[in-house]
Amino acid sequence: QAIYLKDYLPPAFTTKETFLDFELLADHTLVRSRLKVVRNPKRQDASNEFKLDGNELELLEVKVDGQALSEADYELTATSLTLNLDKDAFEFECTTRIYPDRNTALEGLYISGGMYCTQCEAEGFRRITFFQDRPDVLSVFTTRITADLEKYPTALSNGNQVSRIEQDGKVVAEWHDPFPKPSYLFALVAGDLICQQDRFTTQSGREVLLQIFVEQGNEHKCDHALESLKRSMRWDEEVYGREYDLDLFMIVAVDHFNMGAMENKGLNIFNSSCVLATPETATDEAFARIEGIVGHEYFHNWSGNRVTCRDWFQLSLKEGFTVFRDAEFSSDMGSRAVKRLEDVSFLREHQFPEDAGPMSHAVRPASYMEISNFYTVTIYEKGSEVVRMLRTILGAELFRKGSDLYFETFDGQAATTDDFVWAMEQVSGRDLAQFKRWYSQAGTPRLDISRTFDVDSGVLSLKAVQSTPTTADGSAKEPFVIPVELGVLGDNGQQLELTADDDRFDLQRGVWLIDASEQTLELKLANQTDTTPVVSLLRDFSAPVLLSDDLSDQERIQLIASDSNGFNRWEQCQIIYKKLIIQHVNGGFDSSLLDGLKTSLIQLLNDSDVEHAVKAELLNLPSESEFLQLVPSINILSVAQARKGLRVWMAEALKAQLEQLFVDLNQEQQYRFEPKQVGIRKLKNLALEYLMLADLSSFQPIALKQFETATNMTDQLSAFRFIVKHADEASAERVSDAFLNQWRDDVQVLEQWFRVQVSRSDSKTLSRVSALLSHELFEYQNPNKVRAVIGAFAMANVESFHSADGSGYEFLAKQVAKLDQMNPQIAARLISPLVKWKSYDQARGLQMKVQLEGLSKLELSKDLYEVVSKSLS
Ligand code: ARG
Ligand code: ZN
Repeated sequence: QAIYLKDYLPPAFTTKETFLDFELLADHTLVRSRLKVVRNPKRQDASNEFKLDGNELELLEVKVDGQALSEADYELTATSLTLNLDKDAFEFECTTRIYPDRNTALEGLYISGGMYCTQCEAEGFRRITFFQDRPDVLSVFTTRITADLEKYPTALSNGNQVSRIEQDGKVVAEWHDPFPKPSYLFALVAGDLICQQDRFTTQSGREVLLQIFVEQGNEHKCDHALESLKRSMRWDEEVYGREYDLDLFMIVAVDHFNMGAMENKGLNIFNSSCVLATPETATDEAFARIEGIVGHEYFHNWSGNRVTCRDWFQLSLKEGFTVFRDAEFSSDMGSRAVKRLEDVSFLREHQFPEDAGPMSHAVRPASYMEISNFYTVTIYEKGSEVVRMLRTILGAELFRKGSDLYFETFDGQAATTDDFVWAMEQVSGRDLAQFKRWYSQAGTPRLDISRTFDVDSGVLSLKAVQSTPTTADGSAKEPFVIPVELGVLGDNGQQLELTADDDRFDLQRGVWLIDASEQTLELKLANQTDTTPVVSLLRDFSAPVLLSDDLSDQERIQLIASDSNGFNRWEQCQIIYKKLIIQHVNGGFDSSLLDGLKTSLIQLLNDSDVEHAVKAELLNLPSESEFLQLVPSINILSVAQARKGLRVWMAEALKAQLEQLFVDLNQEQQYRFEPKQVGIRKLKNLALEYLMLADLSSFQPIALKQFETATNMTDQLSAFRFIVKHADEASAERVSDAFLNQWRDDVQVLEQWFRVQVSRSDSKTLSRVSALLSHELFEYQNPNKVRAVIGAFAMANVESFHSADGSGYEFLAKQVAKLDQMNPQIAARLISPLVKWKSYDQARGLQMKVQLEGLSKLELSKDLYEVVSKSLS
């Protein structure tokens, strides 16, 4: 039951105006809709089919132009309502009954903590009423909400409130959104909420009221999100020339939410964990995540809402672009270097494996069964990398021109990724046809670059070879256009002057476009040297590829010390770490490489020009999952052990420096979320963990003291986590109890407590995890808690999840089967660690496969069925 991009056809009719009337009653909701429908000029043939989507709806009445229809006048299936109408324009009306309190899928209209809320992307609106629930149908919405005044005094929808009446114990609120939008951007909220507000004046002088609605008791947790929102609004004006377009911008925090947040027009709905924060309850990472997500949803107002997607195959048109925009925003607000290397780590840890596994798909997929399964790291993060490459190829100035042209041309329309690239072609005069393979071909390209140097002529030749392994769809890959930013360095790290006569190399910016499977670049050095120069390749990770090069360990050490590109200094460290870990898996560390590494790390830690946060990142090792791509069928437990061994070695080798850092940086200061402080806390806490690895008995008491006296969650949670992970069992239990007692009433902190509980790896891990599922504060219906216990166990506790007896896999499969009955989207996501079974060693792979086969025999949701069946085929 897959659907294909090639089958795209515009509908015969389109809805221009939508009037919705919601009556929120005690045990059900009545939805009356009235639609103004006209023929769709985009449809070529003379079809009379008016097809509406519907899912789990009770249909009470249907009318066309005021005339009630009987069952013979339409065709009703479990998922659609179809009419045949020989008319050019008509009014369609229908009434449906729905049951929000029974909706555990959290799609459509549902109840979270006593409040009504919606999630309509991608196909949730069809659970509310029959509608053309597809993004290429844009209409102007007017929404009326009638609800019990005492229980639901706050009644919100998109756009501006046009009226509000309180009468006979009821509230009747009417909202109107003047901007035509697809149904997936519809939102409704009703509850007893408190609002924090602020104002923003746009570039052109429009006064916008900003409101954040939260449950009682959370009103003190809104400041950071409000500040982030104002910064986002200013940033989009300054960097993209995009201004906000309504007089009101609302955010609502809800506890039960499948994803992070949703960009509904004028009424964003957020997972409460992605919006609520105070220094005492939220870590620096949470503050950063909130800033990024608030920005992301706000930026969607242009990249997503004003210009939307023609169909869901184009999802990355809005998501990839918006992730790119939010990443740039975060880089401008915080540390650019740190943001980039965090994003690259994330991409390699999650997207590369996805692209090598059974769910591999292109940034613009060719087919899907369930679109919810395609809100992936490929669509989002790789999509963002593709936009980044476009900017690298065009340069910042032309890229901005292209973005302006894109927004101007497609404003108010539903567009495609081709339209986006078209705008970039128009402003640059470039032919980007081959570049578009990044949208249509899945897979991570392997790029190999090797040097030959001719001393006599002073010519350095770089030979590039690219190839992309076949992915799940089995198709052969054509060469990509790979922009490689590079520099050629002398012995002391200075950039060497050179010339090149090659139209695929931009000498000024140092960008080499590799577009063939094999390609050579000749660089002539201005000055004489005797030795092959060092090259710094793929600076700032200018393309999402797996690079191999011919640098020696010595040359890498040199780059770590002297490359002007901060990203590449970090990257060379990562390469050495990976090499060492693989060496350890195969027998043991090479001690001369360790010596070289030690010297450079000490130098880096002592270098006052390097930001604190970058120093911390330099000491972070690559995650276990990155090794699965480097060494097929590698034993993941050996990797975990080797990784631990390397950490212990580093802790011991750098102990003196780390101790000094910890003492210097461990100064009490008033918490502020700003780059310098964030960097200090990050490095200080990293030092503390390493010191515990090197000398537990001396540093456990220090961690305990930090746990007890910390005045911010970053420091408290770090200490808590380190103790639970590294200390003896009794101490771990003691701090866990203390933390729970302190924070049991705070939903956001409680989620962290669950996460930490499942992070300790010992013989009792699985029984602890199981016990948490019956904890009085655990709820299967709350995705955050499910992710914090089951998800975190499977994703973050490598040693226990992958334990050789297969018990971790069995546990996960059992939980997923249970969750599939309540929330298919969550079930389909949670199964992902098992889905990549082919990447693991044979014994583990088989154990994983057995669990998948077990699941495949059950009655599964469409979501889970797609993932499980693809993983077994
Ligand atoms: N558009 C939202 C965002 O990225 C995500 C919504 C995803 N919803 C879903 N049911 N998969 O900001
Ligand atoms: Zn998004």
